[in-house]
Amino acid sequence: MTIAHDETFAINRARWDEVVAIHVASPFYRVKEFLAGEDILLPIERAEIGDIAGKSLVHLQCHFGLDTLALARRGATVTGLDFSSNAIAAAREIATRAGIDARFVEGNLYDAPNLIAERFDRAYVSWGAIGWLPDIKGWARVVAEMLKPGGELYLLEGHPFALALDQPDRETGGTGPLRPTFNYFGGGAPLVFEEDTTYTGEATKLANTKTHVFSHGIGEILSALLEAGLSLTYFKEHDSVAWSLWGMMLEGPDRMYRLPEGHPNLPVSFSLKARKV
Ligand SMILES: C[S@@+](CC[C@H](N)C(=O)[O-])C[C@H]1O[C@@H](n2cnc3c(N)ncnc32)[C@H](O)[C@@H]1O
Repeated sequence: MTIAHDETFAINRARWDEVVAIHVASPFYRVKEFLAGEDILLPIERAEIGDIAGKSLVHLQCHFGLDTLALARRGATVTGLDFSSNAIAAAREIATRAGIDARFVEGNLYDAPNLIAERFDRAYVSWGAIGWLPDIKGWARVVAEMLKPGGELYLLEGHPFALALDQPDRETGGTGPLRPTFNYFGGGAPLVFEEDTTYTGEATKLANTKTHVFSHGIGEILSALLEAGLSLTYFKEHDSVAWSLWGMMLEGPDRMYRLPEGHPNLPVSFSLKARKV
């Protein structure tokens, strides 16, 4: 990675390190419920991941490992990787408290093939991961390298079309129409955001307010995976997403966020599976 990317990683890592304690304590993530035995995976991944019992699985950008541990409870042998040392420390602690055998590795996504010698039956990437990565082709090459031949990626993400839109009046209630606000296609400079609170809704003010985020269009993501030697076996667009993209979104009883009734429907997330040939 270039120096510019190193700066991006340092800015983003500081932010992620700071939010871990807030997220672990937040009702958004449901750590307490997980420790009490609840299945905290959301309905889309629950319906789509299939049978992973007995499979080796690497969860890339695993945050503090709650989803990783939920996948372990389904019988997979799991390894989570994240570049936030606070996230990895929290993941190890929660694994111990839950009595779940899991491996957590601290490191940059782009270094994963060197940091982890094992190759896996499954790679798992979900909800708010690839937007932190400047180079989507490099990401796809890492995914391909981490898989055994015949191994499969499951990716579940915010939809890049939706991520290009914003409700300009979101801070004041969010009743206004969605407008194209951010680039859809990637490849350029990062979008620089300044936000002093995190997405889980707590009021805690953050010291690390700045983040660098990258757009990746659907075609760019698919082409990157195909070029890296994976073949697409599944692709679906969804009308619900794991976090509130805009003030007008409503949370359902299934913890998913949707546009209000009567609003033209739009894809707000997508999922895919791709197999290493
Ligand atoms: C929104 S979280 C991942 C989503 C996960 N489903 C969750 O919410 O539990 C994004 C994660 O990506 C990690 N991350 C961002 N850039 C990274 C990089 N270059 N290498 C490794 N991890 C990275 C952050 O530390 C953070 O834990």
